[in-house]
Amino acid sequence: ALVRDLEGVRVLVSAGGTREALDPVRYLGNRSSGKQGYAIARAAAQRGAQVTLVAGSVSGLADPSAVEVIRIRTAAELTTEMLKRAHEADVVVMAAAVADFRPVTVADAKIKKNDTGPAPIELTTNPDILRELVSARHDGALDAQTVIVGFAAETGDDHGGVLDHGRAKLARKGCDLLVVNAVGEGKAFGTDDNTGWILTADGQETALPLGPKTLMASRILDAVASVLGDERCS
Ligand code: PMT
Repeated sequence: ALVRDLEGVRVLVSAGGTREALDPVRYLGNRSSGKQGYAIARAAAQRGAQVTLVAGSVSGLADPSAVEVIRIRTAAELTTEMLKRAHEADVVVMAAAVADFRPVTVADAKIKKNDTGPAPIELTTNPDILRELVSARHDGALDAQTVIVGFAAETGDDHGGVLDHGRAKLARKGCDLLVVNAVGEGKAFGTDDNTGWILTADGQETALPLGPKTLMASRILDAVASVLGDERCS
């Protein structure tokens, strides 16, 4: 039987990739399929949570049942939705692959090829949603009890390097839990399986063996449930 240990907990999950328009026909995007975020949303609903899923570009996934699904395209739209909806959440999970950069302008007409000079594309930095969520909690704009879960997509050949980057990212971003996954050719983005670690703000590190993203989702929610349990006891 399924454990309904998240009964009544309000969970907000982002999933999939953002697409930053260059002109009417082109965009900057990434290979996120949304599978990992959708698996978390589905599993949380099965465990009794009240789930909202904010979805960017995903690869033909069906909406999980009993989950409210909001569609976004750009990092700016995702920022607006997450910052607004985080106020009604007990747990926020940033599984979306957010573009760090977007074109400074979106051209009205298809950008023409330029045979001589460099590509006519200038980029600017997008807001870091995860960091904004953490600082909103710090400022009191978000409830101090809101559990914030980030992901770290790290490339690297050796596992040690990936884990070190993950530890540094946890410290930088200041979230409660960080799911570190090694990414790259055939790894994490778009695949059915995933592997990595869950790092907690208090220094616990749990290795997640290679397995289906659904299993990874359960392990992540176990860690979330444990943070929620600690809050109730403290
Ligand atoms: O969608 P799938 O195909 O199933 O693949 C899953 C996944 C590999 C996309 C997922 O497991 C994952 O790692 N998602 C985060 C991808 C990412 O953008 O990682 P990052 O290391 O660049 O960012 C770190 C964290 O900051 C992430 O939680 C990200 O959502 C968040 N972020 C990043 C940039 C930004 N501007 N704002 C953010 O909030």
